Formats: sequence, structure tokens, C-alpha cells
Amino acid sequence: MRPADVADMWWRNATVYCLDVETYQDSNGDGIGDFRGLTSRIEHLASLGITCLWLMPFYASPNRDDGYDVADYYSVDPRLGTLGDFVEMMRTARHHGIRVIADLVVNHTSDQHPWFQESRSSLTSPKRDWYVWRESPPQDAPRAVIFPDQEDSLWRQDEATGQYYLHHFYRHQPDLNISNPEVRDEIARVMGFWMELGLSGFRVDAVPYLLSTADTLAAERETDPHSYMRALRSFMARRSGDAIMLGEVNVPYDDLMRFFGDGGDELDLSFDFPGMQAMYLALARQDAGPLDDALRSRPLPPRDTRWATFVRNHDELTLDQLTDDQRDEVFAAFGPEPDMQVFGRGLRRRLPGMFDGDQDRIRMVYSLLFSLPGTPVLFYGEEIGMGENLDVPGRSSVRTPMQWEPGAGGGFTTADADKLRRQMPAHPYSPDEISVADQRGDPDSLLTYMTMLISKRRDNPHFGFGDVEWLTSAQPSVLAHKAVLDGDSVIAVHHLGDGPVEVTLMPGLEPGTQLRDELVSGAGVAEPIEVAEDGTLTVSLGRYGSCWLRS
Ligand code: NOJ
Ligand code: CA
Repeated sequence: MRPADVADMWWRNATVYCLDVETYQDSNGDGIGDFRGLTSRIEHLASLGITCLWLMPFYASPNRDDGYDVADYYSVDPRLGTLGDFVEMMRTARHHGIRVIADLVVNHTSDQHPWFQESRSSLTSPKRDWYVWRESPPQDAPRAVIFPDQEDSLWRQDEATGQYYLHHFYRHQPDLNISNPEVRDEIARVMGFWMELGLSGFRVDAVPYLLSTADTLAAERETDPHSYMRALRSFMARRSGDAIMLGEVNVPYDDLMRFFGDGGDELDLSFDFPGMQAMYLALARQDAGPLDDALRSRPLPPRDTRWATFVRNHDELTLDQLTDDQRDEVFAAFGPEPDMQVFGRGLRRRLPGMFDGDQDRIRMVYSLLFSLPGTPVLFYGEEIGMGENLDVPGRSSVRTPMQWEPGAGGGFTTADADKLRRQMPAHPYSPDEISVADQRGDPDSLLTYMTMLISKRRDNPHFGFGDVEWLTSAQPSVLAHKAVLDGDSVIAVHHLGDGPVEVTLMPGLEPGTQLRDELVSGAGVAEPIEVAEDGTLTVSLGRYGSCWLRS
């Protein structure tokens, strides 16, 4: 692998970090995170080693869905700062070698967006066809709603004209009509605008819904919605050759592959939702089987496209692709109380809470994340093991302010705690117990461990660029794989069980090859080990142990 190629395909060896500006750092004491605050924290991201920042929506918004309800695509929400503050943040990130991508939320707008206000005003409004209107809901309605706690239909009657509009998400998020060429042009203009300001691409929200034409009348429908995706992708490539689209596509693998495009000409990256869900089932059972099966069946994305892997994101930890029984197993293990669950399909906890703070187990999961083929994506606060606050309703339980220092405001803000939109978690996850300041420089902290993992991932491009082989292990609790790049191998072994294990593998390496653990964690393999005469490799690991072995 030529180093220049590694740089060109930067997303294949990147570590992505997702944050919401609103909950990251408040610079002016009003209790709301802002761009100036984020700029002051770029140093933290640089020393952690992340290479790509993913900003959740920061556009002007009534904020009824945390900014996923956009009221103006061309401006920064004034609560978060100005365009000038945005550009200074971009400049600072670039100085530290960090790329920035942002959410592109164009399946829908806010109902407060002037486009919708105009569209709803009359049947003959020039913007009428920017949204999807019907005289009455289609016969097959109501189909499955996404937020069953608040909606029971995808269609909502609007008083002004009596017609119904489509909204896949909340009723205050009317779907844009992407069959309309004017809407398509405007979406491209939005992308072009932010790319001129330095974005390296987008996390594309709700891709299957964006491309769905099920609710568009046949006469208005493009022959193939994927041709639109290809057009958007090539528009982006014309504006900037190394920009990426990271898509949110939560569907089974077979359906998911279509979103990469045949020759890899649609999404560059797609979140591995099926693999994530199989991982939680495997963790719940302390049996690597479900994950091993999922990874072996996981198709290879075409050409330079990749899976994006994650442990946690900003939404509910969805388990919607598991069977009811499997989901119940995960609920029982990691979120038995009804209050820990949401929508009947997911968990509203962060990993440390699910694991009762078990450090060995937490670290093993991140070692796994960083060794899997695909691009790892972290959610802010994972690097210090932040917990959730179940007193915060719904999905927002995991969107509490970043914990920088001990104290009431957690270093996030100087405002009084009652000014905060979301309260910090209580014991044992309060800022007094979990904070960046507390963990920085501590050789045994999770922050130090995560920093080490991120740098080891960069040092071992095998996982990002190599060919991966899933090794057979006779121990059900052990997942083992080998990544080979230019004839050089790294063997990753992860033990999902609570107790020591000894496993014998056939790594396909020359007898006598000496291997040492790349991870300097103390929980792995302390002394170099050797491939035996018969080609076997015996690895001993402690409870929830892991190692990345390299010659
Ligand atoms: C998916 C986002 O991840 C979620 O947070 C949001 O509510 C919906 N899309 C609607 O935009
Ligand atoms: Ca502020």
C-alpha cells in the first residue's frame, strides 16, 4: 500500500468523532454549547487522535428534533454562534489535521422552514411541489411510523388547504419531494455552500427515506431514485475530489448494498447497523457466534467504499434487526428496566451503564471496534466512559453535556445547572467522577487507553486497507480475525467472556513466527508468543481480554 494512496482514501483509515455543538462546550455562560466553545476544544480532539469530526445539525432550527428539523440550510443556529465562528472552528480543525463533515438532513425540513410555509399556503404556490401532498392519505397508509410514541401515521392533514403531507419522521418534519428538479438543485446548492466553507463531506440523514419514492405518484417519479444518489455523489466529487458521503441506512445487508451503488458510485461509507446489533447480541450472550456469523456474511463494499462501524450513536441503540427473542436477551442483559428502553426496539443507555462500569469489558469492546474492517465512529464522551441520564426523556438521555472537569457545570458551562437543557448524569457518572481533566495524563484511564487505540489503529492500516480473514476458534467466547496488508499480518483476538480463556488458532503463519501484542493495555498478551511447529498459535487472555498480534 503506497502511503500516498492511504492519504487519498483518507476515510478508510480515519477515526470519526460525532458531536453536537450544543452539548460540547459553552463559551459564554448561557448554558448552550457553541462554535467558539468547540474551537477551544479542538486541541482535545487532536490529542485524542481523531481525524474527522462529524457535526450533528447546527443550522437554524426550532430545535424540536435536536436540529434534525432545519429551518434554514444556509445559516448557523444563532444560539450556537455565527458563520464567522463556524469558519474559525473549521480553520482551527484544519490546522490540527482534522477534517470536518456535517449532517445533511434533506429528507425533510422543519415545518417552520420558509419553503414549507410557502408550500402549504395554497394549492398553486410555486413551492407546492417541493413537498409531497395528497388529497387523501394513500390506501396503504398508515405504514410503520418511525417514532411510534408520538406519531401514528406518515400523513398529516394541513388546515390551510385540507390536503395531506408526507412526513416519515415527526409531523413537524414534512418530507421534501426529491423528484422535483428544483429541490434537487437546491440540495446540491446547500452541499456546495458548506463545501466552499471547507467541509469534507456529509453524514447523510435517513437515506432510505430520502430515496424512497413509494409515496410519489408514478407520473412524478424518476425511473431510479439511485440515479439521484449517483448524481449527488458525482456533483460532490466535481466540487471536491476527496469529499465523502457517510450514509445512515439501517436495513439488512442485502438491501444495504444497493446504497453503495454498483461500482461504488453512491455512498462512500455506510453505517454497519446489522453488525452493530449482532455485536450486542454476542456481548449479551458472552458468545462471539452471532457477531462471527454476521461478519462472515457481511458483503464486501464495492471498490473504495467502506463500512462505518460504531458502538453507540446519538439515537436509541436500535435492535430492530434482531428477532423479538434476541432483542429480549439484549434488553435483559443491558437494559432490563422499561425506562432504559425506547420505542420497543432500542436502549437509551451508553455502554458503561450497560456494563455496570466494567472497565475490562468496556475496553475489550473498543479494541474490537478499532480492529474491525471499516471506519470507526465514536460518539462524544465515549473516550472517557460517560454515562447516560435516564431522567432526560427519550433518545436525549445520551445527549447530555460533555464532561470536561469536576464540578456542577462539568467544565461545559459556567451557567447555573438549572439553566441546562439537559442535566448531567448523577452518581456514578457525574462530572465529579467522570471527566477529561481527571483522566488526562493518568496512564490507567480510559482516555489514555482510547488515545492509544486510535494511534495503534493508524499505525496498523491493515484493518483499514488489508484483506480480512475470519479465523476459526474452538472457544465460543472468542472472535479472531487476521488482516493482511502487503504480506504483513495482524491477528486480533477478542474474548467476550467473563473469565480467563486459552484459545488455539490456525493463523496461517510460518512456524516460529514471533508475535507481540500491539496494544499496551495490560489486559492483553504480555510476552511475545510464537507460532508452533504445527502452525497453531495458542493465545491466553484474561476476562474480557483482547490483543492485536503482529510480528
Ligand atoms: C435520523 C437521525 O439520526 C435522528 O436523530 C433524527 O431524529 C431522524 N433521522 C430525523 O431526522
Ligand atoms: Ca453558549
